[in-house]
Amino acid sequence: MSHSKIGFIGIGRMGSALMQGFLKAKLVSKKDILVYDKDQKKLQAVRKTGVKTASSNRELVSKSDVILLAVKPQSMQAVLNEISEVSGGKLFVSIAAGIKTKKLEEKLKGKVIRVMPNTPCMIYQGTSAYSIGKKANEQDTKLVKKLFNAVGTTVQVKEKHMDAVTGLSGSGPAYIYYTIKAMAEAGEEEGLTEEVALKLAAQTAKGAAEMVLKTSKKPQQLIEDVCSPGGTTIQGIKKLEEKKVNEALKQAVKAAAKRSKQLSK
Ligand SMILES: NC(=O)c1ccc[n+]([C@@H]2O[C@H](COP(=O)([O-])OP(=O)(O)OC[C@H]3O[C@@H](n4cnc5c(N)ncnc54)[C@H](OP(=O)(O)O)[C@@H]3O)[C@@H](O)[C@H]2O)c1
Repeated sequence: MSHSKIGFIGIGRMGSALMQGFLKAKLVSKKDILVYDKDQKKLQAVRKTGVKTASSNRELVSKSDVILLAVKPQSMQAVLNEISEVSGGKLFVSIAAGIKTKKLEEKLKGKVIRVMPNTPCMIYQGTSAYSIGKKANEQDTKLVKKLFNAVGTTVQVKEKHMDAVTGLSGSGPAYIYYTIKAMAEAGEEEGLTEEVALKLAAQTAKGAAEMVLKTSKKPQQLIEDVCSPGGTTIQGIKKLEEKKVNEALKQAVKAAAKRSKQLSK
């Protein structure tokens, strides 16, 4: 990356996943990163890895070109109040669920790009959707795409679709873990060891996801390909239908999207 200094405000689950991802991808070096978090223990842990920390959000913003806003939505207002005055000329990348670009632009004098990543960014398998604020230019967009492409894939969406993205891919890893956990537990109940059951369930989820991404087939076609008449899979699918799992998963995505909408009010 160019010699931009990148600052992280909030180094919790997502902030640290992204920082580690950017570092592993060699997109930034430790000396180009500055971190601030309210939690001193987290800052201490960051310093131990050789990454510098600031003593306040204001200092961090003053010393950085690109600032990743990675605090919880509930903490954002306090952060914005603190950094507003020193925000001119900077690029802010917010990953907070439900905080609208408009709100960030009202408080910040700099440019804004909103991104909704997910935790697999930590292993370069993330999915991030981004929408561009009014002041951000093509160069800013390129930089953000480069950063998040280094930790997975990116798609550009209209801001109005960010709540849907949050419910689907932002929260989605948890729904897949939930599915893997349930399948593995069933495998154990059928006599497999925990280790084997988990490996089979996780690798099956990975393989199935790759089939969707790499063949031109729609999920329904792929389901039918596995379900030979009179075979085993059809019995499993019948059970999923009977238990309305399709509906439950849809409701899960919509509940998370609804929460994202609530947060944006
Ligand atoms: N987790 C996910 O899978 C995911 C996915 C996509 C997007 N996101 C978004 O990413 C953001 C961060 O989520 P997270 O799960 O990483 O949260 P988290 O683990 O709670 O991390 C947030 C960190 O920010 C710190 N903080 C709070 N107020 C602060 C302030 N005023 N100045 C500096 N630091 C402050 C918190 O410290 P304290 O703990 O002391 O409050 C905490 O260490 C959220 O907005 C969320 O919507 C998360």
